[in-house]
This record gives sequence, structure tokens and C-alpha cells, in this order.
Amino acid sequence: MSTLSGKRVLLIIAGGIAAFKSAELIRLLRGAGCGVTCVLTENGAQFVTPLTLQALSENKVYRELFSLTDESEMGHIQLSRAADLLVVAPATANILAKMANGLADDLASTVLLATDKPVLVAPAMNVRMWLHAATQVNFSVLRGRGVLSVGPAEGAMACNEYGFGRMSEPAEILTAIKGILLAPQPLAGRHVIVTSGPTHEPIDPVRYIANRSSGRQGHSIAAALSALGARVTLVSGPVTVPDPAGVTVRRIESAAEMLAACQAALPADAAVFAAAVADWRVANASSGKIKKQPGAAPPGLELVPNPDILATIASPGPARPRLVVGFAAETDDLLANAQGKLKRKNADWIVANDVSSETGIMGGAENEIHLITSAGVEDWPRLDKQEVARRLAARIAEALR
Ligand code: C5P
Repeated sequence: MSTLSGKRVLLIIAGGIAAFKSAELIRLLRGAGCGVTCVLTENGAQFVTPLTLQALSENKVYRELFSLTDESEMGHIQLSRAADLLVVAPATANILAKMANGLADDLASTVLLATDKPVLVAPAMNVRMWLHAATQVNFSVLRGRGVLSVGPAEGAMACNEYGFGRMSEPAEILTAIKGILLAPQPLAGRHVIVTSGPTHEPIDPVRYIANRSSGRQGHSIAAALSALGARVTLVSGPVTVPDPAGVTVRRIESAAEMLAACQAALPADAAVFAAAVADWRVANASSGKIKKQPGAAPPGLELVPNPDILATIASPGPARPRLVVGFAAETDDLLANAQGKLKRKNADWIVANDVSSETGIMGGAENEIHLITSAGVEDWPRLDKQEVARRLAARIAEALR
């Protein structure tokens, strides 16, 4: 049996000279037993003919958003539904910009906006277009949303320049596709709740108490669990990081709302509490905006403790997830405090990290954690938050086996 038999790729070909390499990619995919359906953009058709793609893919090539025959045979939703993976090769600066900004002005961009399937892009463009701040921002927005990428490579270009921007070779793209489509899904059939971001506790309709949490770590964990096949409910406070693909997101503001959303998401096999929940809320929050009175003393805020979401969900009972993971963000006595939290909150694991301002961890891109379990303490090296998430998701998969 060929390695990719039974799998289906929707290959989106945008307008770049590298489109000629996509013909070879189709040949390699077909050779591996993979079904291929092509969507060709108007610009893509300047570089490669529909007839070539149709002959190689042994499938109809889709080109128009408003074609009555195409819609009756296979509409844009159906095109993505029928695929296991969407591959954009070549991914031009233009199509990356459309994807990053949610434009849907042709069939390719509409399919990309409507899909909930994994998406792999193989960027291909002139080196200066690749290095332009706009393209770099668009690309990092897409990566943050969970879009996967291969390349671009460095080398000589069709425009007689040298640098980064060459599309990866078809064999490399095939390897990346195999890595995605043949990745193990050890968490298939499991449901995991993840909390992420800060909470906002109102003082009045315009003011609130909050903290510096960005949601990066929690959102990355949700994405990593989803990549291993888990059904993930992400309960998120107000953040600016994008929603991870394929994850159900419940948006809340206060700790009370976060608790209610977690309880509504039960039952779950595991729960990861990465949110930085405000410890207190304002008991005397005002329903109208508090007026600044000239010469008057500032208003007194009466703070009362918030419910502990982690401790509530981890308390023994039939609804308790099998694995409950808490976080401990500390500036002093990190390990002692984290170990105390493990017991007090009845968690199975605590992910402890030092959030002193000099570490740059709170709101930053990296994290250095200590994983505390009943077996002891593991010190992990300083890693990108996405890598911390991948390793943690792999450990959760092992624990739920
Ligand atoms: O007690 P502390 O806030 O340091 O505990 C941190 C852990 O507890 C984190 O996992 C956090 O998400 C969780 N927590 C919670 N509800 C609270 C406070 C903290 O779930 N009210």
C-alpha cells in the first residue's frame, strides 16, 4: 500500500513562476497514492495550464467562485470538506496577504477562509517581497494561527537575484505533507479543556483590573493538543493572539464567567489551567461610570476573592477530569510555592515558571518551566512557548494512554 493512500490533498496554485514545480508535486503525491484536487487562481493560470493539472491529478481543476457547474458539483465548502489537508504551493506574497487579512475575493481565498482543515503553505516570491515587513507580518500572523509552512529556501531566483524566497523542492513539500498527514493522533477521541489569557474584573462599565498575560502559552497548548487529535475547548480571557485553528473557543471576561464556561464544557479527559486568573474581583463594582470629583478622595475598592477555577474543577467527584494540570507563575520560592499549589488545589501536575520581570516570560515568546508531578520535579530548558506546548501535549497524550 502506498504511504498516503486514502488521503486527500486540496492543492491551491497561486500565480508565481514556481507553479511549474507544483506539477511535479502532483506527480509525487499521486505516486504516493494521495488523491489530489487542484484549485488554480487566475494568476496561477498564467504559469500553468488547467489541462496539465487535470492530466496529472486525474481530477477536475477548480477555478471559479461563481461557476454554476462547479458549485453544483463541488462548492467551496465541499472542496475543503473532502480534503485532509490544504496545500498552497506556490504561496505568493499576495495570497499570504489575503489569508492573513481574511479576504475572500476568488475561489482559492474563499476556500482558505472557509476551511477548518490544516493548511500548509510553501512561500515562493522574490527575496525583497519575502523580506518586506508586510509579508513578514502576514506570515507570522498565519503561523500564529496554526498555518504550517515549508520553506522558502535560499537560492538563485528566476528574476536573476539570490536570496530567500525560492519555493521548496517538490520532494521537500511531499515530506512535509507526509509529516502532517501521517502524524500520530494519540489524543483522538479525547476532550481537553484549556484556559488561557488574563481575566478582566470590572470596577465600573469602563474600568477593570487585569494582568499582563498574553494568552500565548495557553493558546499554543490548545493548538498542540489539537494537533495530536484532541477535541479542545479553549476558554479564553481577552487576548490579542489569534484563535488556534480547529479549536472551539469560548470567550469570557471575568473569572466567574471562566468558571461557568469550564463547567459547561465538562466532561473532559484532561484540563489545563494556563490562564492568569485575577485573584480578586471588585465587590462594590459600580453599574455606572465612577465620576472623578474635583478635590474628593479616590474611590475605595472592596476586593473579594474570586472562585478558584482549577481547585473547583480538580475537586474529587465523578466530573473531575482524569488529568488536571495547573500553572504556577511565581517571582519567589518558585518550587516550594508550586508544590504547595499541587496539593492545595488537588492538581495532578503543576507547570511552574518564574515570571520575575527580568525573565521576560510574562507576555514574552519563550518560557522556562519546571514540571511538578507526584514523581518529582523536571527542569525543562528555556524554549519557545510553542515548543513547551508541543512537549506538554505529548506528555498529556502519554498520561491519557
Ligand atoms: O494560586 P495561583 O493563582 O498562583 O494558581 C495558579 C493556577 O491556578 C493556574 O493554573 C491558574 O490558572 C489557576 N487559577 C484558577 N482560578 C483562580 C486562580 C488561579 O484556575 N481563581
